[in-house]
Amino acid sequence: MHFSTSLIALVAAFPLLISAAPARVYGKRAASATDILVYTFADVLEQLEASFYTQALAKFQAQDFLDAGFASSTVAIEQFTAIQIDESTHSSVLQAALQSFGATPLTSCQFNFDSVLTDVATMAATARVVEAVGVGAYLGGATLLDDPLLLDSAASILTVEARHQTILNLLSPSGSAIPSAFDIALTPSEVLALAGPFFSGACDLGITANPGLSITNTGSVGPGTQLSFSSPAITSSNDTSTFFCQMLIGGSFASIPLPFNNCVVPTGINGPVAIFITSDGQPLLNNVIDRATTQLVAGPTMAFIDTQPQALGQLARSGSPSSSGSSSGSASTTISTATISPAEASAIISSAGSATATATASSSTSSSASGSTNAVVLSPSVPSVAGSPNTYVGPSTDGTMDILGWSTVPNPNASSASAASVASSTASSSSGY
Ligand SMILES: *[C@@H]1O[C@H](CO)[C@@H](O)[C@H](O)[C@H]1NC(C)=O
Ligand SMILES: *[C@@H]1O[C@H](CO)[C@@H](O)[C@H](O)[C@H]1NC(C)=O
Repeated sequence: MHFSTSLIALVAAFPLLISAAPARVYGKRAASATDILVYTFADVLEQLEASFYTQALAKFQAQDFLDAGFASSTVAIEQFTAIQIDESTHSSVLQAALQSFGATPLTSCQFNFDSVLTDVATMAATARVVEAVGVGAYLGGATLLDDPLLLDSAASILTVEARHQTILNLLSPSGSAIPSAFDIALTPSEVLALAGPFFSGACDLGITANPGLSITNTGSVGPGTQLSFSSPAITSSNDTSTFFCQMLIGGSFASIPLPFNNCVVPTGINGPVAIFITSDGQPLLNNVIDRATTQLVAGPTMAFIDTQPQALGQLARSGSPSSSGSSSGSASTTISTATISPAEASAIISSAGSATATATASSSTSSSASGSTNAVVLSPSVPSVAGSPNTYVGPSTDGTMDILGWSTVPNPNASSASAASVASSTASSSSGY
């Protein structure tokens, strides 16, 4: 206790030191207008995150965490507190940097998290989405920065946001710590589509948000689940039979396009999925530079498809790992409280502040607690996309893999020669991304 108290004091003092002498830390660099915009955007996101965790920790007591299924409230509160301190430190440092550029930080934005601070399970599921958005925002923002030094600084925050994501994956009912070898980069407009509902009042960043999107399914979402959506950009006057849902996962070359009216979660997905709605079936490329926006209707929204629950997360939830020791979805924890799936949290996020908010923290005890959704493979047989100019439907089955915006690279399992070729593709990939 003594240790953590002094640590908090040290961290709290750190931004003040930087504010007092920004020139010593950042030098007198001439930041471009774009750099200032990216840092301002990053700071507002950090303010949002810090505010979210501060309000959550102020509202929920130890018993609330136990009620949400955590074996020990200390384990969860310790992590949420550490994350809150990081976010608040990030904001202070970004603001000091902006001041050193001669810019004024944007501190007038107000946030409202009432819709997701209803209970700890909803809060924790929302935190997981918030961190995925943070990771995506820094990844996408990296391509915009002009000054390599600022890129370095922003990247040092990005790696920490990714650690938060890992912790929150473990604290979720059936998440895996590191669900994918790759994350998903998001543009500022995409980030605002996800975070926008939490802004209350004006917050003029000078960036246009994509139309918001929410998943309206209640209950568990897994492979085989048909997703339904709502968005202010999709009304009864639209012919949605011509629309597509686009599922973007880390490491894929492009999104998986599925008919809007038959948007079934495919097998083979684990972890965060960014879902967009487009007016044609052309997949969206998995890089923020080349990703086409002309046919975008709404989104993204962020869902977590947890198909590989892990024993480490079960320790935090139940105090012991699954007795079978298997990680194949047979988690046998006995959480008896209501939980919500991250997809539900996504729905709650996107409908926050909206009169049409319908998602509630429904009880999905059996599925999310036992991982039964994950154990049942429903073989959704991804619908073919008639008339689509492409045939890409997800991770390659022909022995090749597509990684981000890079060219198709051989499956490293194929042979050692292929493995060498992967390494060289990786090394030469920077020009393509
Ligand atoms: C959906 O309908 C609205 C209202 O009629 C229209 O403005 C919009 O362009 C339509 N969206 C698409 C992608 O066709
Ligand atoms: C490579 O082999 C491992 C172990 O058999 C397997 O889990 C993994 O999915 C394979 N990777 C690819 C890309 O096929």
